[in-house]
Amino acid sequence: MLAAEPLAEYRISLQRTLAYPRLRYMGSKYRVVPYLVQVFNGLHFDTALDAFCGSGVVSYALKEMGKQVTANDFLNWPATVARAVIENPGVTLSEADLELILSPSADGRDFISETFQGLYFPADDLAFLDAAWSHIDGLPPYKRDVAIAALCLAAARKQPRGVFTVTSFRYDDGRRQLRMPLRDLFLEAVTEYNAAVFDNGRANRVMCQDALLLDPDGYDLVYFDPPYAPPSDDADYIKRYHFLEGLSVYWRGLTIMQNTKTKKIPKRFTPFAYKTKVRHALRELFNRFRKSIIVLSYSSNSVPDEHELYRMLRGEKSEVTVYSVPHVYTFGTHEAAQRRKVNEYIFVAR
Ligand SMILES: C[S@@+](CC[C@H](N)C(=O)[O-])C[C@H]1O[C@@H](n2cnc3c(N)ncnc32)[C@H](O)[C@@H]1O
Repeated sequence: MLAAEPLAEYRISLQRTLAYPRLRYMGSKYRVVPYLVQVFNGLHFDTALDAFCGSGVVSYALKEMGKQVTANDFLNWPATVARAVIENPGVTLSEADLELILSPSADGRDFISETFQGLYFPADDLAFLDAAWSHIDGLPPYKRDVAIAALCLAAARKQPRGVFTVTSFRYDDGRRQLRMPLRDLFLEAVTEYNAAVFDNGRANRVMCQDALLLDPDGYDLVYFDPPYAPPSDDADYIKRYHFLEGLSVYWRGLTIMQNTKTKKIPKRFTPFAYKTKVRHALRELFNRFRKSIIVLSYSSNSVPDEHELYRMLRGEKSEVTVYSVPHVYTFGTHEAAQRRKVNEYIFVAR
């Protein structure tokens, strides 16, 4: 591999991106976005695909840069967040919408209260989610997406470490959010998403598909941030975020594994999360999108290593540059992150 070029400390001037609603999401690139923007700024492109959009922060930065953005994630919840802030050209929730969403249930539904009784949140919070959904169902498209995105953000913020592998709601890490009613957290989240909504004058869109099945045509640049295949453990998003994935569709069409303590839904298979399958999947991905500039985020603690990735990209593209991002921590508590300090790279293949 060529020696990685260290990127200089960089502050972005993208004010909206700096205020993007913060969600604790495994592998999210909040801290790396300034460096990605620095790299994007040096490339000529107008249309971009963010094929594994997750929290949506990278798509959002591209939108603020004025690009025509397509955001994709194979999970419904990240795709809903992306519809709310990337595709949405300016629709926000009004006071009247909020009054409706916060009013008593329209139909007395109690699926969430019944299914998750005693898990994650107190009964009042679960009842609030049921009642809110009874109104959200009738909202027009982008309002619906903003409301669902805000419900999910509220639920994530009230959950220890933002992951639904722990069912107790008696855990307390001192954060004020853990003691706030979900209803109030929802209102805060709506304020943040409403502020994040804007029109960049482009026809941005969102898809919810396996990245390996996307039509590769029409993108000057593609950004890949797949789950990292760790040498041990797994990078399964459903295990951690099943509640938010379910909440984003009111569990319709999903099967709850009733014998599990966490009441989770089945894993969604992705080859990128397994060290035995990731090489083949990456090769297929790079080959499929070989006509576009490929920008790839990569952490040093995963499989394959950076040298192999470099060779794979060189197999498809004539020029590959590797940048190293100064000092970022991965997802996790500060202490755990210290132990897991990794090198973050950005590959650019042209
Ligand atoms: C590392 S995260 C992306 C983080 C994102 N760049 C951010 O800043 O928040 C990887 C994402 O890929 C999604 N994903 C996993 N396998 C996928 C596949 N085969 N096709 C599309 N999305 C996939 C996961 O749901 C997850 O949201």
